[in-house]
This record gives sequence, structure tokens and C-alpha cells, in this order.
Amino acid sequence: MRVLGIETSCDETGVAVYDLEQGLLGHCLYSQVELHAQYGGVVPELASRDHIRKILPLVREVLTTTATTPQQLDGIAYTAGPGLVGALLVGAAVGRSLAWSYDVPAIGVHHLEGHLLAAMLEDPAPKFPFLSLLVSGGHTQLIKVLGLGQYQILGESVDDAAGEAFDKTAKLLGLGYPGGAVLANLATHGDPKRFTFPRPMVNRQGLDFSFSGLKTQVMTTWKAQASQDEQTRADVARAFEDAVVDTLVIKCRRALQQTHLTRLVIAGGVGANQRLRQQLSALANSLKVKVFYPRPEFCTDNGAMIAYAGCCRLAAGERASLGFNATPRWALHNLQIPRTATK
Ligand code: KG4
Ligand code: ZN
Repeated sequence: MRVLGIETSCDETGVAVYDLEQGLLGHCLYSQVELHAQYGGVVPELASRDHIRKILPLVREVLTTTATTPQQLDGIAYTAGPGLVGALLVGAAVGRSLAWSYDVPAIGVHHLEGHLLAAMLEDPAPKFPFLSLLVSGGHTQLIKVLGLGQYQILGESVDDAAGEAFDKTAKLLGLGYPGGAVLANLATHGDPKRFTFPRPMVNRQGLDFSFSGLKTQVMTTWKAQASQDEQTRADVARAFEDAVVDTLVIKCRRALQQTHLTRLVIAGGVGANQRLRQQLSALANSLKVKVFYPRPEFCTDNGAMIAYAGCCRLAAGERASLGFNATPRWALHNLQIPRTATK
């Protein structure tokens, strides 16, 4: 089975071809970062328009580079939510229309399921069940993953997501948007001992997170500095990153001990963070747990994870109906997809 995957939930147009026997055949990505940077955040209408401009050229490109003819495709997967409604509708409309014209089934994929399964694109791939730390721009969740579509949320952020905290903190330090990776880079030059920020909610029972207070603490500290020089900026960035990473690691340790799961899988854009990866590897070593990471380009949004998740669901017999829908808000534990035989 060979599936074309399309991701357009936010500001990245991603397209990929995944083959059940041969694995990922190819993928390409267009990032709108420069388009939105001048506004300090994603402008939804501009995002939709840019997806329209880029989606078909990217589909053509990936079909060409993977030497895939439309006749070789067994299905089309598109991100159906959660995300920006206009952006989602572009991918859904194009995906559903291509499926109709190629006479193959279509499937609407949950964006977070794509992230959760992205590590399956690597070798070795994790086996079910596993604990997933999903850390993206919109979500921070600890999830017990029992199988395809079987997701139990063990804990989540009660306010800002980890990626959102990275982006907001980067912005207030004058690092532009989206600043997560820029802040992480700057933090490598920072002195870890100069500032210390609290590790939110670690003294409370449970597996929930809260990151919005941390951002306020950074703001107060940054504004109080007589000299906002480059070294101070790097030192604040380092202290912030350490606080987020420590908090995530402490909660992962707790979740692994509570669930007795022996595999930890990282997912989402913040999963590209090197310090987080180092600390989680150390944790996994100490607990004799195996940790799995998608390559950094598959931590952030991409078409490959959607092609993979869609392929799994199509192989399980699921199909989207002829109509299509975008679901901007969509809970991960509610992933029923209508089992119709419609192509
Ligand atoms: O998963 P993703 O691409 O999009 C969502 O589905 O939200 O995640 C994007 C988030 C952004 O907040 C970005 O700043 C953050 O991931 N991010 C990072 C790094 N690379 C991307 N945060 C920390 N360190 C990084 N290296
Ligand atoms: Zn994402």
C-alpha cells in the first residue's frame, strides 16, 4: 500500500509518500516562517493563501522524486485537524479532490496522531505500548499509547504549551518568531549558574504541566537587568531552557515509574531540542528504559508523519467519506473516523 500524505495545519506545507513495504519513499516541506516573521506570529489568512500556492507544486515534486504515478497510489491522507481552519481546509480540499480524481480512498488524519507516530519512521521503530512525551507549539502531553488510536492522556499543560513558552520567551528576549530553536541556540552560550527559574508544578502530585508563570518570571528578570547585553540574554535563555527541560524530565520520570512502561517516545517540535534529548537519554539510561526520537525534521510539522499515520489507518480499513471537513479543535482521545467504504 502506497499513500500520499499532506500536512497543512499551520505554517508548513508538507507532502510525502509512504509505502507500507518499502517505508518512507520521499518527502518535501515548504516553511512559511519568513512570511509570518514580519508580523511576529502566524497570520491565518496568509497561511491559507500560501498553502494554496505551494501545495500542488509540492505534490508534483514528491511524486516525481519518488517516481510514483497516480496509479501506484492506494490512498491520500491529509491533516483534518487540529489547526488553523483555513489552512486545514486547503489540505483537506486538495487531498480529498486528488483521491476522488485518482479513484482511491482518502483519510483525514489527526495532526497529533501524526506527531505521536513520527518515531515509527525511524529504525529501530518503537513497539506498542509506549509512553509518549508530546511537546509541540500547541500541546504538552504525556500519553500512554497502547496501539493505533488508543491514546490515554496521563497529563497535560493547564496553560501554555512548552513550545508556546519557548516562542513567547524568545519574543520577549527580542529573538523574533518563531524563536524556540533560536532561543535554544543562544542558550548553548549561556551560563547555567547565573539565573535560576522555578520548575513549575513539580511539587504537586500528578502529571500536569504549567508554563505560563515561567514566562512571566523570565520577563521580570529580563526587565530588571541594568545591562541587557548579549551574555545576559544568553544566560536568561539558558536558565529558561533548563527550567523547561528539567520540568519535562521530572514528569517523564514520574510517568514511567507510575506506568511501568519501558519505552519512551518523543514527539513534537520541542522534541528537536538537544538539551531535552540529552536529559531524556540520561533519564532513560538510569531507568533502563529505551528512548526513541524522530529525526529533528520529523519532530516539527511534516508530511511524512501524516502519510505514515494515514497509511496505518487506511490499511486498517478506515476511509473518509466523500465530503470533507476540517476540525480545528479535536481531542486526541476521540479519534473515531467513519468506517464507510466510500472512495
Ligand atoms: O510540532 P510543531 O512543529 O508544531 C505544532 O504542531 O505546534 O512545534 C513547533 C514548536 C514551536 O513552538 C517551536 O518554537 C518549537 O516547536 N521548537 C523548539 C525547537 N525547535 C522547534 N523548541 C525548543 N527547541 C528547539 N530546538
Ligand atoms: Zn505539529
